[in-house]
Amino acid sequence: MKSILFFLFIYHLIINSICDVPTCDSQPFCKEIRDGTQKSSFTVNEYTLIDGVLVLNATNNLGIFFEMKIFMLEGGMIRVKLEDPSNPRYDLKTVLNQEPNLRMGKIDFESRDYLIFSGIGGEEEIHVYFNPLELEVYKLIKNTYEMILKINDNQMLNFNVEDSNKAVSLDFNFIHAQVAYGIPQHAEQLSLQNTINGEDKNPYRLFNNDFCCYPIGTKEALYGSIPVLYAHGTELTSGVFWLNSAQTFVDINPNNTLKSLFISQTGSLDFFVLTGPNLKETILQYTSLTGSAPLPPLFSLGHHQSRWSYMSQEDALGVVEEMDRNDFPFDVIWLDIDYLQDYKIFTWNLETFPNPIGMQEEIGRSGRKLVLIIDPHVKREEGYFVFDVATENGYFVMDKNGDDFQGACWPGKSSWFDFLNPSAALYYSSLFTTFANTTDIVHIWNDMNEPSVFALSTNTMPDDNIHYGGVLHEEVHNIYGFSQTVNTHHGLLERYNHKKRPFVLTRSHFAGNQRFAAVWTGDNIASWEHLKISIPMCLTLAISGVSNCGADVGGFVGDVTEELLQRWYQTGAWLPFFRAHSSMYVERREPYLFNEDVQKRIRNAIRERYYHLPLWYTLFFEHEKFLEPVIRPLSYHYSDDVNTLEMDDQFLVGRDVLVHPITDEDVGDVKIYLPGGVNEFWYDIVNEYLYYGVGYETVKVDLDSLPVFYRGGSILARLEEHRASSQFMHDDSYTVYVFLDKNNYAEGNLYFDDYESFDYLENKFKYFKLIYNNIGGLIINDVDDEGEFDRLFKIAKLIVYRHPASVTKNYSEVNVNGASYKVEHVNDYRFEVNNLNVTIGDDFQMRFY
Ligand code: NOJ
Repeated sequence: MKSILFFLFIYHLIINSICDVPTCDSQPFCKEIRDGTQKSSFTVNEYTLIDGVLVLNATNNLGIFFEMKIFMLEGGMIRVKLEDPSNPRYDLKTVLNQEPNLRMGKIDFESRDYLIFSGIGGEEEIHVYFNPLELEVYKLIKNTYEMILKINDNQMLNFNVEDSNKAVSLDFNFIHAQVAYGIPQHAEQLSLQNTINGEDKNPYRLFNNDFCCYPIGTKEALYGSIPVLYAHGTELTSGVFWLNSAQTFVDINPNNTLKSLFISQTGSLDFFVLTGPNLKETILQYTSLTGSAPLPPLFSLGHHQSRWSYMSQEDALGVVEEMDRNDFPFDVIWLDIDYLQDYKIFTWNLETFPNPIGMQEEIGRSGRKLVLIIDPHVKREEGYFVFDVATENGYFVMDKNGDDFQGACWPGKSSWFDFLNPSAALYYSSLFTTFANTTDIVHIWNDMNEPSVFALSTNTMPDDNIHYGGVLHEEVHNIYGFSQTVNTHHGLLERYNHKKRPFVLTRSHFAGNQRFAAVWTGDNIASWEHLKISIPMCLTLAISGVSNCGADVGGFVGDVTEELLQRWYQTGAWLPFFRAHSSMYVERREPYLFNEDVQKRIRNAIRERYYHLPLWYTLFFEHEKFLEPVIRPLSYHYSDDVNTLEMDDQFLVGRDVLVHPITDEDVGDVKIYLPGGVNEFWYDIVNEYLYYGVGYETVKVDLDSLPVFYRGGSILARLEEHRASSQFMHDDSYTVYVFLDKNNYAEGNLYFDDYESFDYLENKFKYFKLIYNNIGGLIINDVDDEGEFDRLFKIAKLIVYRHPASVTKNYSEVNVNGASYKVEHVNDYRFEVNNLNVTIGDDFQMRFY
């Protein structure tokens, strides 16, 4: 069996690398539109206002009749839909978090040539030109309406209706934009390449694809597709969300204005204009449409240990034991496909895992969880219950003849669940409740869900496969993985009676996936380039709604050098999803296998992660509530700083922590950019140094360093006891770090709850605002007085960093609830209060004297 698997995998890789990947040029539907060989101009014949929605009746040059609807939305967005009323396309409504709130539209002006349409109470207006059909979007900025976007200015609007060609396309011309971000997933920098005048003149492709060992900078599609494009400039930012799940190509030409062109193989012409006006607002608009991620359980923000595969129960338990013996904190051990009997999902290989329950109990006792892989393919084997039920009930995707589609994947001959079929979806999700030999520490990993089909030149199922309701696969290809994760998430919710927050990781993804699963960057390589690119790949996902992202620490393919591995742990500890994983064809590399020095650095990197768990948890809570991404490019907070436009070798965790990972070999010093101007302070607490935010600084580094800076004006609570996993930290006391700004002021937030249930949705949580100033000392307010959670906020230590020049007075003691503690002045930058024994239920003040 192993050798067949090896053969299949290698064959798959070869096919992957030698097959000519379809480009725009190789596919007539795309080439003809892009070349301009096919051009259809549209004319508006008449228009009406129906329930506040503008409805345009338009015909193209072939005389075919279409209906365009324009919806003004709350929150600075506009939706435009073009439909062929006699032939509706697949409705992607499950992608949206909810139906967006409509503003009543009104016509402000009309003439023979054009009209002006706006929403009551809104700040946007759209000018609709009739012949040819063109749209211009204006936004009220500082009391005047400024044009931000022209749509169909280049007459690239196409909507083909023949059976052989159903392509749709449209051009967007963003005014005032200097760079383009978004449209993941590509192994690409934050700022996208120019596809017209750049070196590589292929457009970006969005087509979910199992692409092992992907090269950097390719426009080729990787595992997921999120068709949101941000046109960012230091003056204005806006964007477009192209709601289409078919293969799509995107051209980008930033050059004073940013010209872009979307061409989809089929599917709907339905898009949202995000009017900004700055990067942060534009990202929040997109996230309001597709939703934020629900607060993940705390354990999932810890460190994960994985490998393809831990081959036996003994192997897995041995790893847990060794990690503990060598003091490497971790929260989750992962089982890849080899725990399954002949790669049949929802089974166990009881020869190699003779006592799965006993094994899970032992893992559970060690304070860890278990993640099990579940792929979407089903081995074709009569007598295998999943195959039998799915076959009898017609739960598989069909081929063009209406028979169950058959292809190859890990188990050999397989068929694929059709998650668009509600009964199939229900059956699939019910399997998580009945999953034999599993306990309550189990969570799930969905892989190969592009879907990956071996031995086919396209790497996936044919376009003409048929889904429930007669929908062709080509139209819904990019939501296949999305629909699996929706049902995995629901399955786990049911399994745990809605009492426990599920954790799901997915490889394939689409817009809105953040509501159901975290995402990783797939089969990367153990190389410095891949380490470097993991940062922009996750930043791009974060601004596209998916904050919970990480890359395989160490690189999936290829043996890793010790230096690279250490750097990868240091970097991975600052990306939201932190998992070490590797392929079965590389040397084992659990951290305890290395020499003492290497172990020490890896251990320190992992500990950094655990010190900051309260920060990650608070940020994820705020992400759910306020939609802000957890990690952010610098341009998110410093959007008018031209130096940040393309910056992606450093990033912000929340608002206040700036991280500059070392992603090159043998580095002795590194150039760091500190933004914000002379009034912004950045504290380096390792070297006890304060920088002003005045630009580039060269900082010395060695193998132990990972440059991290805390913003003056912020307060951060850390958990600094060394524990085996996050489970043992729930009742630990915090060390509060105060970083003063130039006015000797700072503030920050801290959120906690029971870390695993949904009770937080019923007010069982604590959300504190911490404020420090020279008059009141440290003041802590319970922001949400409604919160009924009874765990106290315990503080063991307070550390205050400040500008040495600002020291007017040195305090000697601090008074807390009647008790007094000594203030220790360690140096000009820092004073501390140690051995505090403070528990806070509600509001609280700590005065210095
Ligand atoms: C491909 C995934 O990307 C990888 O992480 C996994 O280990 C293998 N499939 C085997 O399941």
